[in-house]
Amino acid sequence: MRGKLIFLIGFMGAGKTRTGKRLAKALDFPFLDSDLEIMKNTQKSIEELFAEEGEAHFRSLEKEWLLGLGPNPTIVSVGGGLPCFHNNMEEMNKRGITIYLKLSVEALAERLQQSKTVRPLIEPYKQDEPVLKSFIRAKLEERDVFYNQSHLIVNGLSLSQNRLNELIDEIRERL
Ligand code: S3P
Repeated sequence: MRGKLIFLIGFMGAGKTRTGKRLAKALDFPFLDSDLEIMKNTQKSIEELFAEEGEAHFRSLEKEWLLGLGPNPTIVSVGGGLPCFHNNMEEMNKRGITIYLKLSVEALAERLQQSKTVRPLIEPYKQDEPVLKSFIRAKLEERDVFYNQSHLIVNGLSLSQNRLNELIDEIRERL
């Protein structure tokens, strides 16, 4: 039988944290966000971790954190790159239900340009829309191979209350 962790997956800016909090409230499950937990554990920002220790080290922190998750029912929002390293996608599919919040390149670019969160991979391109879009397009193509292994794929752009309720029913059926 599957575990009861529910993972929200998707590109930076897809709305994983926001949707995760809505699902957690509706299902009355706790909510965890991988970036926040890693920042708490290391007492460093994501920006500092990338600058001081490099991306490879950050990916090993993500892996370690994922493997340390307890068995209790929890909604877990994971950083956009986490599913694409170290067999993490396979691990999440074994441990629970994976939900891919899918958005178009255009929608992601718009959200990322408006976002105040510092994302080291996005910062160099943030001010130049065509360059940002081609970065997202290339990265998403690489990452979709992993994201598309999710149990459920959801249109992240128009997540109305009705669609969210349907998603909650789908999650309940799989618990
Ligand atoms: C990353 C996504 C970020 C954060 C880090 C790297 C990525 O999380 O983990 O900046 O590689 O896609 P969000 O997806 O929550 O922005």
